[in-house]
Amino acid sequence: MTTSSAPGKIILFGEHAVVYGRPALAVPVTQVHADVEISDSPRAGIWINAPDVNLHAELNTLPSDHPLASVIHNFFFLSRVSPFPNLEINISSTIPVASGLGSGAAVSVALVRALSSHLDKQMTDKEVNMFVYEIEKLHHGMPSGIDNTVITYAKPVYFVKGFPSPSGRGQGEGKVETFKVGKPFTIVIGDTGIPAPTKESVGDVRKLWEADKAKWESVFDQVADISFSARRVIEEGWVEMLGQLMDENHALLQEMTVSSPELDRLVSAARKAGALGAKLSGGGRGGNMIALVEQEKAGEVSSALISAGAKRTLITTVS
Ligand code: PMV
Repeated sequence: MTTSSAPGKIILFGEHAVVYGRPALAVPVTQVHADVEISDSPRAGIWINAPDVNLHAELNTLPSDHPLASVIHNFFFLSRVSPFPNLEINISSTIPVASGLGSGAAVSVALVRALSSHLDKQMTDKEVNMFVYEIEKLHHGMPSGIDNTVITYAKPVYFVKGFPSPSGRGQGEGKVETFKVGKPFTIVIGDTGIPAPTKESVGDVRKLWEADKAKWESVFDQVADISFSARRVIEEGWVEMLGQLMDENHALLQEMTVSSPELDRLVSAARKAGALGAKLSGGGRGGNMIALVEQEKAGEVSSALISAGAKRTLITTVS
């Protein structure tokens, strides 16, 4: 039997601006994870069991654009696996779906890694990352690639998206730098419980940008400065300064119209309860917000978020 696991992720700085080539910072969230187990099967076919989504099916009975089927078909095609082996694939995940914690990318990373090691077709991290990016594109339009990158490398990542290759085929991995965390810090993640329509918010920001490119390029530059400073601040361990950068980033995201009354309510509740700073995280409109806290305040901020309407909170230490 072969097993593989991949963490969730959260974006700390730079969402949306990252779509326009500015840097963003994201970190793995290891308390939640996707897990895949593969074993040879005595029965014919490739049997997929994913009890969390109530799926028990043979591969060929799934539509070819099904997210799990597309990972398996593309993997077999690219690795020239033929004939198809008989397999039992068990998939489970503790990552909340559609909340900006990267559940889709984590399942894809764990699945492709389990397939590659079970079938002895070695893949480098870079290959896994590029593969999962192609899968993400099938299901999410034109994502920047930050989700698959931070989940593949399972380390804090400073990310600048790749640009289409000159041949027009595919896209480079982008600039991926992992960085050191000078002093561990604690983040409380608050979930509005509202599904995050990332495609919609990305589309709306594009409309704003198309209507006034000069203005929005300058807003994205301000976000870029924040991400750049945040990386330095994290590396140096100047945690107190990170809170202010979060507040500034949230204000720019509000200007981009991707916050919402629910997100703003959670952000102010966190600040009132003593967080050093707070912002929405990811596509916005719904999904998650994050608050930077001193470790001993994490419980208090988490309770304040629940009282302000958060459906769930998660406390994570970035180290
Ligand atoms: O909602 P999430 O966590 O999947 O993040 C979306 C981040 C955006 O920058 C808004 C879009 C992207 O593709 O990077």
